[in-house]
Amino acid sequence: MISVAIDGPGGAGKSSLSRRAAKYFGFIYVDTGAMYRTIGLAACRRGLDTKDKSLILPMLSGLVIELKYNDAGEQRMFLNGEDVSADIRLPEISMCASNVSAMPEVRSFLIDMQRDMAKKYNVIMDGRDIGTVILPDADVKIFLTASLEARALRRYKELCEKGFKGSLQEVTEDMKNRDFQDSNRAAAPLTVAEDAVLLDTSEYDFEESLSMLCGIISEKTGAKAVEP
Ligand code: DC
Repeated sequence: MISVAIDGPGGAGKSSLSRRAAKYFGFIYVDTGAMYRTIGLAACRRGLDTKDKSLILPMLSGLVIELKYNDAGEQRMFLNGEDVSADIRLPEISMCASNVSAMPEVRSFLIDMQRDMAKKYNVIMDGRDIGTVILPDADVKIFLTASLEARALRRYKELCEKGFKGSLQEVTEDMKNRDFQDSNRAAAPLTVAEDAVLLDTSEYDFEESLSMLCGIISEKTGAKAVEP
């Protein structure tokens, strides 16, 4: 099986680029952030303080988290049987996901689900620790990043399309805080794997970034396009 690990901070375009690259090569796209978001959502719905381990850990045994793919090949997240794929994208869930993801027990809870996907399929898996912890033997590791300004602007535009009424400054602050927290936690922090290829997309549009990403994957794995 071929596995491609893509890590990087929020808003770098990991999900949209990985999804398209996976389609291009006929691989399965695995969005691990969605799994942390599902746990964050579960905690949020229960009104729990997502920084409080003594409340979050007992909750885990009551959660059934499933990852499924619909007929269009899109990843859907299920929480105790309910499709929560839309709810986990609410802006307020981002920080909850980051909070729970700092707990090693939460990370262990999800690790098998992530590794099992890579055992069964050719995958492009994105997250924060894929190349460093989850798939240290991935065929290719890419650290996808962009400047804070570029990432915040992209995320802001994305949110506005969904009816977001907040400001760019708010989105920038939120992103900065989340980056700091994800990069400075003790458990599997966001770091560049030493054998990762660094791809900074600040100056490139989506199609240019996609073409660079697919070029790296193709060169390192020998994978060929299944779609033009
Ligand atoms: O990729 P995302 O923004 O949807 O991820 C939400 C949060 O989940 C992110 O702030 C950090 C956490 N996360 C993680 O700790 N490890 C991963 N592999 C993926 C996400």
